[in-house]
Parts: sequence; C-alpha cells; structure tokens
Amino acid sequence: MQTLPLTEINKQFDTLRIAERCFESAALFALFELGVFKALAGGPQTLQQLHRVVGGDLESLQAALNAAVALKVLTKENDRYGAHPSLVECLGREDSPAYLGDWVAFLHAVAGPLMSMGNAIRTGKPIETLFEDVHGDSVASRRMTKAMHTFARTRGIEVIDRVDFSQTHRLLDLGCGPGTYSLAIVQRFPQVHATLLDLPGPIEEARRIVAERGMTGKVELVAADAFRWDPPEPFDTILVSNILHMLGPDLSQKLLHRALGFLAPGGRLIVQAQFLNDDLTSPRWPTLLNLMMLVGTDHGRNHAFGETAQWMRQAGFTDVELLRMSPWNVNSCLIGYKARA
Ligand SMILES: C[S@@+](CC[C@H](N)C(=O)[O-])C[C@H]1O[C@@H](n2cnc3c(N)ncnc32)[C@H](O)[C@@H]1O
Repeated sequence: MQTLPLTEINKQFDTLRIAERCFESAALFALFELGVFKALAGGPQTLQQLHRVVGGDLESLQAALNAAVALKVLTKENDRYGAHPSLVECLGREDSPAYLGDWVAFLHAVAGPLMSMGNAIRTGKPIETLFEDVHGDSVASRRMTKAMHTFARTRGIEVIDRVDFSQTHRLLDLGCGPGTYSLAIVQRFPQVHATLLDLPGPIEEARRIVAERGMTGKVELVAADAFRWDPPEPFDTILVSNILHMLGPDLSQKLLHRALGFLAPGGRLIVQAQFLNDDLTSPRWPTLLNLMMLVGTDHGRNHAFGETAQWMRQAGFTDVELLRMSPWNVNSCLIGYKARA
C-alpha cells in the first residue's frame, strides 16, 4: 500500500468539498438559531462572553465556534470570535435592511428533509409534508410566510415599479402570504381596493403586518381556501404570486381556471413566480426551489415559463406576456387577460 498520488488526492478533495458543504449550513443554522450573530453585532466576543448570552453546553458551543472558524463562517483573533460584517448585517441585526434571518430560518426548516432526498426520489413521496397543513400553520409554513416577507420587501418589491397598477380598482392577492406586495401596491396606488386571501395561518401574519404598517381597515383580509371560496364581486386584477409551485401542475391549472372566473371581462391576471427556464436546468435558485417541493409537498413542483404560459392560454387568458425582472430578483411575471365580453 502506498499513499495515493497527489492527482488522486485532489480528486478526493474536489468531491469532499461538495459533500462537506452540509457542515457549513449546519454550523450557520446552529449559530443563527442560538443568537451568536446577534451577540457578535456589538463586536468580537470571547467564548465565555458568548456562552453567557447563548447558554447551553460550553464545550459543545466551543466546538461549533471553532469549526465555524475553520469553515470561515467566523473569525478568531486574540481569543475573540467575530463574524464578517455581511453576516452580522444579514443575520445579527434585525433592523438592518439586509436582514435575512427569516429566510435562513426557513431554509433551516427544509434542510432536514433535503438531506433525505434520495428516499423521496426512490418512493415518489415527500419526506415530510412541510406545508400542507390545511390551516397553513405548520412550523415550515410560518417560517415560509416570514421568509416571503423578507424577499418581497427587499428584492421582490420591484414588481410594483415594473407593473402599472394605476388603472386597478379591485385587486385580489390570491395566496397572499404576508401580503407584502398588495400592501405596497395600495400604498403607492391609493385607488386600489385590495382583498388579501390565504389560509388562516398566513392571514394572521398578514394581519400583523397590516397593523404594523398602520393599514388596518385599508385592505380586506380573507382567511379561506382558494379552491373553496367565491368572490362576491369580480376583480379587475388578480395577483397569484409564488403559489403555483406549491400546488403542482393539476391544481395550478385548476387555480388558473378559477382565477379567470373571478375576473371581470378585460381583467388581468399576474402570475408571479420563480420560474424555471424551459431547459429546466436554470436559473440556479428555481431548480433548488423545485427540490424543496419534492421533499416537502405531495404534488408541488416548480414550473417553467413555457408550461405556465400554456396553462394560462388553455384556461382562457389572452395576450399572455412575460415580464422579467432584474438579475438580482428571481421573480418574473406572466401576465394574461380575460377577453372583453
Ligand atoms: C410561497 S407563499 C407566497 C406568498 C405571497 N404570495 C408572496 O409571493 O410573497 C404561497 C402562499 O400560498 C398559500 N396557499 C397555498 N395553497 C392555498 C390555498 N389552497 N388557498 C389559499 N392560499 C393558499 C400558502 O398558504 C402561502 O401563504
């Protein structure tokens, strides 16, 4: 037996670099959950100082901090642990515009099932139905709603600059989650009367955000299942934002049919999603979102532009057009119209 030649060792290292990325995520999730980034927002801290804030087992904390240093998630100088300013901004300061804590907590909720993806592929069944509580009130659903707010208020909000709502009077935000988009639309276009509809869990989060923004009474909140609800009056615009991937092809087509029925003649449907390109291998994030649906839902899967546009046309929408957003905003919109009578 002899030591492997360097070329072969390098092949092993290349492979292990991918396999060992799970440690980076695990360390990041644990440090975030324990409040380490928050504790480091005031500057570098010793192990004892961090332990006073974080609690738990001192030796285990030290092991995690030291591994995080080796993984370059943290730094260590003169016995003080520190974090890169971007990590402190994104994970340690809730008042920072760059704060991403809710998004990372959501990723943490799906990380466990993702690690068993092989089983989901073998059986064709999710590892755990993360989001299919009929009240939308599972841990993963709650984290998803907060994560969607993080994305919507920072990068996703671009939609209100790119789509004209100046002629909109009755807006339905179907599967509104935190309601971030429609609240921003109403603030910019005060003539819009918005109805925000979602399952009871997300609607409570939307209600909290509405109150936080001083908008109570300015929008209508409806806790209902989109497949069992019928509007008292038709809408002129419906926003279906980032929901179809949770439903999968059959229910998505059913929802598009329902949406057509909810619109007045000449009304418009905006389907916003993190669409796959028609090659199905890009962009990067939509392929990963697809994996979350694979391990966490019975029927969900992320969809491509082409198939979604085709479903819209099959449902009866005309003039379906694609609106792409900036490269840093993974959302895009397909917009279609209900024919005038
Ligand atoms: C990924 S979130 C998107 C939230 C929001 N539209 C946005 O873009 O930020 C998908 C939302 O669809 C909602 N949803 C899924 N199935 C639904 C149904 N049958 N009726 C109403 N809402 C539903 C979920 O509860 C969740 O809040």
